[in-house]
Amino acid sequence: MKDQAERLRELMRNKEKSRAANKKAKVLAITSGKGGVGKTNFAINLAISIKRLGHKVLVLDADLGLANVEILTGTNAKYTILDLILGRKSINEIINTGPEEIKLISGGSGLEELSVMDDENIIRLIEELERLESSIDFIIIDTGAGISDLVTKFVMAADEVIIVTTPDPTSIMDAYTMIKTLINNGYESKLNVVTNMVNNKKEAITTFNKLNMAANNFLKTELNFLGFLERSNLVSRAVKEQIPFILSNPRSTISKRINFMALKFVEPNNGVKMDKKDSFTSKLKNLLFKRGGY
Ligand SMILES: Nc1ncnc2c1ncn2[C@@H]1O[C@H](COP(=O)(O)OP(=O)(O)OP(=O)(O)O)[C@@H](O)[C@H]1O
Ligand SMILES: [Mg+2]
Repeated sequence: MKDQAERLRELMRNKEKSRAANKKAKVLAITSGKGGVGKTNFAINLAISIKRLGHKVLVLDADLGLANVEILTGTNAKYTILDLILGRKSINEIINTGPEEIKLISGGSGLEELSVMDDENIIRLIEELERLESSIDFIIIDTGAGISDLVTKFVMAADEVIIVTTPDPTSIMDAYTMIKTLINNGYESKLNVVTNMVNNKKEAITTFNKLNMAANNFLKTELNFLGFLERSNLVSRAVKEQIPFILSNPRSTISKRINFMALKFVEPNNGVKMDKKDSFTSKLKNLLFKRGGY
């Protein structure tokens, strides 16, 4: 039997070989600093919109223990990523189907367990994620509030990050702190910003400009304004009814804004067929095996 180190070396070699040939999912991590800014609602509606544009989408709920994705989609996960990590279930067994046939994986408390995982379990997780990556076009990771070490690694490994903020100064400040953490850890990919719960476009732009100015001045980083959503009763209604607003109110302004943002990800020059240097799993592998945290 091969030992762990040999399996890891083999995994790395195979990955190098198949990198050019493999189709890789585009991984979008949705995060914030402050909680309750609308990440999960945004993640689910964006996922459905991208699915409707003809792409296979999976939402990974990395909001530990809270299972918000399940609540908002009216689904109930029997198994979580922990069952995969511990070898109790295969990746296909932990995938649920949500509205509009989007795929869902519940983080449960599994991602926390990952921090105490041995190499064998990490290898298993990465092998399964690699398999998944070749059959899915977009993986959308919905993170919880705050900056846990492990969630940060998932975010760091993503192809693009979407930071959600409201016009609330504490939300802008916490979004800035999140961006600073990513930059300080060497994040180099695109940083998108969505301003949520705004009163109008002017407020959306003012909010983005405040955040971008701080990133420009103190982090020498340029942010990309992805779009905005107005404060709307449709969101709380969707939460209560457990039906995403893009399904119950497809013609509403906020649904149109979601579709507009989804289109930006599937445009040819930003699409899934893009030749990417590193896959999500190879980046994640490097981050997870970099011992001793950041
Ligand atoms: N555009 C909006 N208009 C009105 N209410 C909104 C809007 N977006 C989100 N909300 C409300 O804000 C609350 C939090 O939303 P959501 O759960 O999506 O946030 P979150 O950032 O995922 O929170 P957490 O950090 O706890 O995971 C919900 O009650 C939701 O109805
Ligand atoms: Mg959430």
